[in-house]
Amino acid sequence: MAHVARVAAHVGQTVTIEGWLAGKRSSGKLVFLQVRDGTGTIQCTVFRPSVPPGVFAEASRLPQESSLRVTGAVKEDARAPGGFELQVQDVDVVSPAHEYPITPKEHGTAFLLDRRHLWLRSSRQHAILRVRASVVRACRSYFEERDFTLLDAPIFTPAACEGTTTLFAVDYFGDRVYLTQSGQLYMEAGAMAFGKVYCLGPTFRAEKSKTRRHLTEFWMIEPEVAYLDLAGDMDLAEDFIVSVVGRVLAERRAELELLGRDLSALERVQRPFPRISYDEALEALQAEGHAHEWGDDFGADEETVLASRYDRPVMIHRYPAACKAFYMKNDPDDPRLALCVDVLAPEGHGEIIGGGQREDDLDVLQAKIAAHGLPEEPFSWYLDLRRYGSVPHAGFGMGIERMVAWLCGIHHVRETIPFPRMLERTTP
Ligand code: 4AD
Ligand code: MG
Repeated sequence: MAHVARVAAHVGQTVTIEGWLAGKRSSGKLVFLQVRDGTGTIQCTVFRPSVPPGVFAEASRLPQESSLRVTGAVKEDARAPGGFELQVQDVDVVSPAHEYPITPKEHGTAFLLDRRHLWLRSSRQHAILRVRASVVRACRSYFEERDFTLLDAPIFTPAACEGTTTLFAVDYFGDRVYLTQSGQLYMEAGAMAFGKVYCLGPTFRAEKSKTRRHLTEFWMIEPEVAYLDLAGDMDLAEDFIVSVVGRVLAERRAELELLGRDLSALERVQRPFPRISYDEALEALQAEGHAHEWGDDFGADEETVLASRYDRPVMIHRYPAACKAFYMKNDPDDPRLALCVDVLAPEGHGEIIGGGQREDDLDVLQAKIAAHGLPEEPFSWYLDLRRYGSVPHAGFGMGIERMVAWLCGIHHVRETIPFPRMLERTTP
């Protein structure tokens, strides 16, 4: 048994590939089978006189996505896609497929999303999801190599981290709990215990809007660090993004090229990222004729305009506190502002990171919880963190899907997760 990705090591040998029929074409006494085994796709050439009786006819009739074992000699061939082909000696059909619904013709996205379990087999989806796998690996490695401790956050939570309008409530043996919107509050407990922690897991938002950037279930990586301030948090986010982009470029060049990604745009992602305050961003927007009031959060349109001014991610810091979450620390130099940062990706992909410095004073935090109309009781454990050795601390969250969409240069986040969950989709 051999894997397509490793056939170069078997030139001249006879091997068996176990896989699925991705496509075929024939010409006279030859049938070319494209066999996909998950590690890659290889052309398998069936020459009628070289195979046992019946095999040629069976191979010629075999429907797409039939599973099969193909045995043959590996040959280097510059004309074959991938540079190698298998000169077939035998074909063992494991399970002939029914008529496959996804054909080379153009299908609508709804049709493909309904068949997401099959759509995953396409070369484009392979490329995107392999980039995703590398993004996750690069993110984990970044923190592991810097002495962060992985601390998994719970999924069932008693309280809202990111506002009450996007909470999914769950009946928990007669009690009401919520699917987590963010692991942050738990990472703050972790930072007080371990200094530097991170979590990576699914998070949930009941987003009622249909946009290209929103899922109802998405994955977030969230570092949190004790004794870190906003400036340090921005340094961390910048260094983290540069590192992840660099690793994914090194690991997934072929996949990014298959997706038609302009790699030079990713190669430009180097320190330093521009850092501008909300006020400066607002001025820039107004100078370009956008009517935007001080105090309003930036939406997708403003983010696209702002990011388009730069060739790398831009960090926007110190938003009006009123448009941000309750846990943010106010800027001592101007208490109307929060010590927060959003990192916007270039090319219209919007906010990929949100984070900042956390309120560390017990009384102020209690007042903020009340001012946001939140009940104090579910946060009583969180307030303990300010009772027992409170310190300045900061962190951020990066959405894996938005990062993958940007790196792959694809318009909508729905293709960046194996089984997307959106306003109107919870299947397959
Ligand atoms: O800006 P957000 O809401 O920040 C937090 O949740 C903080 N508690 C994180 C922290 O400081 N530990 O979300 C962080 C990131 C966004 O920048 C975006 O990349 C992603 O999560 N995100 C979404 N991705 C897909 N679909 C959605 N509905 C998303 N909402 C946020
Ligand atoms: Mg945000």
